[in-house]
Amino acid sequence: MRRAVCPGSFDPVTRGHLDIIGRSAQLFDEVIVALLINQAKQGLFTVDERLDMLREVTKEHKNVRIESFQGLLVDFCRDQNAQVVVKGLRAVSDFDYELQMAQMNIGLSGVETLFMPTNPIYSFIASSLVKEVAKWGGDVSTYVPEYVERRLAERLRAARQN
Ligand code: PNS
Repeated sequence: MRRAVCPGSFDPVTRGHLDIIGRSAQLFDEVIVALLINQAKQGLFTVDERLDMLREVTKEHKNVRIESFQGLLVDFCRDQNAQVVVKGLRAVSDFDYELQMAQMNIGLSGVETLFMPTNPIYSFIASSLVKEVAKWGGDVSTYVPEYVERRLAERLRAARQN
């Protein structure tokens, strides 16, 4: 079975992430979306909330599984018996760091990284920008699925009331 991993922080998942996940699901037998649990970084959403959003917005893809992991991505890939990591590239500026990580990962364990160009309509989207725009009342419906938009609005409303 050809199994790929799409890793990330997904705080929250955007339409750009979904584009990469959906296209990967057409290329591989199974795609595991791997959410990094980073104790050092407080997100807007908890790990469980991010997993819930990922499960909801990928439910149409029957060969996509959502998991979380701690530690090295290559160890997660080995445990899951996944041969390939798929990374979206939005722009040339993504390339330097992604190349470094890909070379480190293949050096550590032999896991391959495939770079997939992001659909140009999503090339400027980042979770951090979406949060910033939503925080100040901007419309993010083009950038995140409706379910995520609702969760964002709820979270930001709760934050304003506290
Ligand atoms: O969505 P992000 O925050 O850009 O995702 C970054 C991620 C999770 C893909 C990257 O930080 C990662 O792979 N972290 C796991 C730890 C690891 O393996 N580090 C060495 C990479 S060379």
